[in-house]
Amino acid sequence: MTHSSETDEFYPLGGLNTASYDLRADLDRKIFEDPIPFYTDIASRVVGSTGRRVLELGCGTGRISAAIAKTGISVEGLDVSEAMLEQARCKYPDLTWHHANMCDFDLGRQFGLVIIPFRGLQEVTDAKDQRRALERAFAHLEPGGTIALDLIDPDLRYCLPEGDPEVVELPLFPMPDGVGKATSRLRITAMERTNDPLTQQFNEHWRFEEIGADGDIIRCEDAWHHLRWVHRSEMRLMLELSGFVSISEFSDFKGTAPRYATNQVWTAKRPD
Ligand SMILES: C[S@@+](CC[C@H](N)C(=O)[O-])C[C@H]1O[C@@H](n2cnc3c(N)ncnc32)[C@H](O)[C@@H]1O
Repeated sequence: MTHSSETDEFYPLGGLNTASYDLRADLDRKIFEDPIPFYTDIASRVVGSTGRRVLELGCGTGRISAAIAKTGISVEGLDVSEAMLEQARCKYPDLTWHHANMCDFDLGRQFGLVIIPFRGLQEVTDAKDQRRALERAFAHLEPGGTIALDLIDPDLRYCLPEGDPEVVELPLFPMPDGVGKATSRLRITAMERTNDPLTQQFNEHWRFEEIGADGDIIRCEDAWHHLRWVHRSEMRLMLELSGFVSISEFSDFKGTAPRYATNQVWTAKRPD
């Protein structure tokens, strides 16, 4: 079972990673594809003004739920990380946030749409738990309801045991409000990655540094991000075994046909 301690380790309360999540997610939206229009569009198509609700599993800081709520649709978010939920509650106090594990929860009601955006299912690092999360999503959908999620399609060159030692330094960020000194900047570096092809798990080593006005390092935090690759055929089977039908598979948020080593964007339905 994916334990909250794994995510607590990566998203620590009061830590630089948690505080800078939205900055990094914004950078990602600019460089790669923006997931937000896809999720707001599917929410308005599937739920629209019917009064049904949307549930986001692995909602993090709440940016996607908040964008859906802005369109007038009722949405609730669920996350295993108290630190991420603290950000969500603080930024969007009017929305409903649940502290729970997506592999093992029961909210006692059903939704018209369940979403797992931005690779949330890959943070569940065990194959059986990923199945459990899909089964929980299914149980929380009304008959005829829809699930939508996205993952990174594994580029097999980067799944080898020796890993990908490339160091990637992101551009310097301004310090997030209320964290560190106002004159500081934030340096984020992906230091290394280890891979276990047997379990399809990989671990990324990230470094977060507060850099003072004169260039000195004021604070340094290291974190390991644990994730699991899911192959396309495996994802389809997991959806089928969890009871989903009308499964559609794309390689981006525009609906392009599946392509290797891109994104995996999935939609499927609970039968009527
Ligand atoms: C990459 S973030 C995505 C957050 C948000 N969906 C977004 O698009 O910004 C993945 C989130 O999944 C959460 N998560 C990981 N494992 C989980 C689990 N077993 N149950 C619930 N949430 C989980 C993490 O705490 C994190 O907030």
